[in-house]
Amino acid sequence: MTIQLIKKAEETHSLNKDELVLLLQDGSINEELFSAADRVRKKYIGDEVHLRGIIEFSNICKRDCLYCGLRGSNKKVERYRLLPDEIIDLAKKAVGYGYKTVVMQSGEDEYYTVERLQYIISSLKELGIAVTLSLGEKSYEEYKAYKEAGVDRYLLRIETTDKALYEALDPGMSHEERKRCLRDLKTLGYEVGTGNLVGLPNQTLESLADDILFFKEMDADMIGLGPFIPNEDTPLKETSGDNFTMALKVMALVRLLMPDVNIPATTAMETLNKNGRMIALQSGANIVMPNITEGDYRKMYALYPGKICVNDTPGHCFNCITGKIKSIGRTVSDSKGSRVKKARF
Ligand code: 5AD
Ligand code: FES
Repeated sequence: MTIQLIKKAEETHSLNKDELVLLLQDGSINEELFSAADRVRKKYIGDEVHLRGIIEFSNICKRDCLYCGLRGSNKKVERYRLLPDEIIDLAKKAVGYGYKTVVMQSGEDEYYTVERLQYIISSLKELGIAVTLSLGEKSYEEYKAYKEAGVDRYLLRIETTDKALYEALDPGMSHEERKRCLRDLKTLGYEVGTGNLVGLPNQTLESLADDILFFKEMDADMIGLGPFIPNEDTPLKETSGDNFTMALKVMALVRLLMPDVNIPATTAMETLNKNGRMIALQSGANIVMPNITEGDYRKMYALYPGKICVNDTPGHCFNCITGKIKSIGRTVSDSKGSRVKKARF
């Protein structure tokens, strides 16, 4: 029965909520699900993997999400922020390695005013690369200003579509406002990335199914999702279950339902499984986002414990990941890797 559903999804790219729940709860069909997602990835995207270099430029955050190590109330994390010219230097080095996209990610840090960001963005665009921002919730006017300065893409995970769960885990934040941000980003013409956390306390399979349907409904261009990894220095120290496998299943289902979107093999997946990113690339993913931040800052951007590559250099990671991608018979793309819409499914 569930095997038939996988076949249906592979052919029609459509499943309803009940069908998604059946697939999420059946542990016996996982390998079939991953293989089907891999076939759909190959058919619609091909064998190219796009690399996005990510600069984690500030771990200062005014928010207080219960799951996140960078939450404002966490006094154990040593805070840092890179200056605009330091960010530009890292991006220049990344271009030297061959990156065609740079992602600037930070906590919600008010130091980076529109004016400062405009300076960084225009310098990055002069390098001829695609620029992605991941700075959290901003006003329509701010998003508009970044777009006018040349930004191509924006990443903002919905985290969960369960409003009550979201508002319990993200104190002081509103689910409506999160959705407003995503709508504004779409209206402004960004390529929009969203995604969720898988394995949050009190998260149900029904709500994971809703998440998948939400991504499809909003026609997101990129879906980045990962397992929740409990952080000792946050109120959510404990978890249960195998979040790695469940995150992989959600990811594979996203590929079946949204065959032409970009899906990263996320760092959190590799944190829970030492081959996690390659497994993800063979279960529907087509993107990897290596860290191009340098030195101790890699350690200090501690969303969750056990983060990979904290003692490595950007050059080392570039070579490492390129080798791994080739070893599974895939190629590293030399294009910017924007979503190429094949059809409306
Ligand atoms: N485990 C896994 N991912 C996390 N994130 C934040 N905290 C954790 C955690 N404990 C994710 C959020 C956020 C992204 C940058 O990191 O989904 O959007
Ligand atoms: Fe960083 Fe392999 S990607 S060491």
